[in-house]
This record gives sequence, structure tokens and C-alpha cells, in this order.
Amino acid sequence: MRNKYDHMVETVDIDENGDRLLIIDQTLLPGEIKVIGLKDIKDIREAIYLLKVRGAPAIGVAAAIGIYVVSKNSNINDRRDFDAKFRENAAYLNSARPTAVNLSRALERMEKVLEDNKDIEVCRLLEKLKEEALKIKEEDTRMCRSIGENALGLLKKGDTLLTHCNAGQLATSKYGTATAVMYLGKEKGYDFRIYCDETRPLLQGARLTAYELSCAGMDVTLCCDNMVASLMRQGVIDAVFVGCDRVASNGDVANKIGTSVVATVAARYKVPFYVCAPSSTIDPDTATGDDIVIEQRPGAEVTDMWYEKRMAPDNIKVYNPAFDITDNELITAIITEKGIYRAPYFFGREFI
Ligand code: MRU
Repeated sequence: MRNKYDHMVETVDIDENGDRLLIIDQTLLPGEIKVIGLKDIKDIREAIYLLKVRGAPAIGVAAAIGIYVVSKNSNINDRRDFDAKFRENAAYLNSARPTAVNLSRALERMEKVLEDNKDIEVCRLLEKLKEEALKIKEEDTRMCRSIGENALGLLKKGDTLLTHCNAGQLATSKYGTATAVMYLGKEKGYDFRIYCDETRPLLQGARLTAYELSCAGMDVTLCCDNMVASLMRQGVIDAVFVGCDRVASNGDVANKIGTSVVATVAARYKVPFYVCAPSSTIDPDTATGDDIVIEQRPGAEVTDMWYEKRMAPDNIKVYNPAFDITDNELITAIITEKGIYRAPYFFGREFI
């Protein structure tokens, strides 16, 4: 099967004139492939909050391109006014989602362009901002590919892999983090079989991972979240690969809610559990998982979304954290673009 969206458009991009942020609206997948162009700061923040663009690296790239296009379209020529508006917009975008460090990291990099170029005019500064945004995007593609190359050495032909959520091409500029090994394996004839779980409540596994991997011609099977223990107990799964939203310096990892369940089950059945982490996701300033802010999302995502009619009593209290922490001792290795790291973990500033 042809990789439909890959032939059409990138997950996150900038339009030809540099006026609009282009994203695939992922809330419509897999039913509809629609690229939307955004240039208004409110629309860009909303796209991130509503998960039209999602996945830690993709959010970072979208924020970087987004703040550039907003700044360009503002037509502010006075440097002081420009800088003040830029910082206000950066803070506003940064408030969209708290858990993935890529968002604040990308915006900090963009703000640093202002600091490093205090004496240049706005038109020249805009060129530098565009360069930085595209560099963040290009670096992401390179990091993902290197993660895939590093991970491939851990596997053998014909292995069966499990992944959770979507840490795929739709979550990055290209290749994905957890899926990079699958794309590279496909290129090199590894014939992996892949299971992806649905990933309640927002179904990133069913809607996005199952979609993109099957479009890429991979052998992919979808299962419900509560089926992974059964698969591992039967010895079906050779290794688990997941992405992450933030890695604390002690190796605790925040990723999509349910990741820690998969990791716990994998430890029980001695299935290697690998976290794929580009350095843009490593946060040496966060000591442990306890220090990571976990995003809470609306209860309707659990009670109403995807159902034809509501599937919970009216007024029931709902617990809906978007992420959880996987304790470092459950992680077999953390695979970055620089290499493979095993416990005891310590991610200092040299990692970013
Ligand atoms: O809420 P989402 O869809 O943005 O969550 C995405 C994940 O948890 C991914 O696993 C993570 O961001 C890594 S993406 C390479």
C-alpha cells in the first residue's frame, strides 16, 4: 500500500510564502487527510491543545514555525514592540500543553534568536527566526533516523514489536521515534510484525499508528489496551518501543497515559521495554518523574468522544490524565540519537 499522506504532505510544514503553518489535522484521521494552514496565534494554540498537531517533537516544530509565521504576519517593525509581542505570543503558545518539554524547548530556542541578535532590524531577524524554525524541524528528522538506526541493532529479522500511542511520523517531522526502527526495518527487509494498542481515550494507536504503519506497508495488528498482557504472556511480543514527552534526569519518563501499564506488564513477562527519546525530549532540569507536570484533559474525552451517545452516567467524576510516569527501573534502555543508555540513568546538560 502506498504511504498516502507521506506522498502528499509533511506532518508539520511551512507554506511556500512563509506565511502559514501547515499541519495535517490529525483529529480527522484516518477518515480524512486534510492539511490546514494557520497563521493566527489563537488558531495555532488551539490546534496544539486540541491535538490537531500532537506528539512531543511535532508540537515543538509546530510552535517554532507557528511563532515565526505569527511574527512575520504581525507587520511590527519597531524592534522593541516586536520583541515584546514575540515573548507574549511565546508564553501563550507554551501554555497549550504542559508535559512535553519539546514545546517550551523549541520556543526557548526561538527566543534565544532574539537575544543573540539584539541589534538587527526586524526584517533580518525574521530571516533568522525562519532559519531556526526550519533547523529545529530538520534536526528532528535526523534525530529520529539515528534513533531508528541505534534501535535496529537490538532486534533480529522477523521480530514482533509492540508500541503504544503514536510516536510515529505523525508525531515528528519524519520516521517517528518509536516507529523509526520500524520504518528502517522495512527499508532493510527485517519483516517485523507490529502490534499497536488503541490507546484510550484519544485512540492515537488506532487512529494514527495503525493508519500510518499500514499505509507504509507494514504488517500491523491493532489490539485494545487491555490485551497487551495476554499477548506478552503468550510470548508473542519480542520488544516494546514507545516514545516519550519528557525524560527526567534520573531516567523516569513521561509518556502517553497507559505507558506505565505496558512497562509493568513487560517487566512481568521479561519483554524488553525501550523508550525512544530524541535529545529534544530530555530534560536535565527535571530531577525525577514526580517533578513532571501531567496534563489533565476534559472528562468528555472519556465519557463522550467516539461514542454515538454518552457512555457514562451524567455527572460522574472523571479522571483523565493525558500522560503517566514510567519509573526508570521498568525501562530496559533509553534510545537517543546519540546512543543507547541503560540504568543507572543520569541525563545531565550534555544530553541536550
Ligand atoms: O497527547 P499526544 O498525542 O500528544 O501524546 C503523544 C505521546 O504520548 C507520544 O508518545 C510522545 O509525544 C512521543 S511522540 C514521538
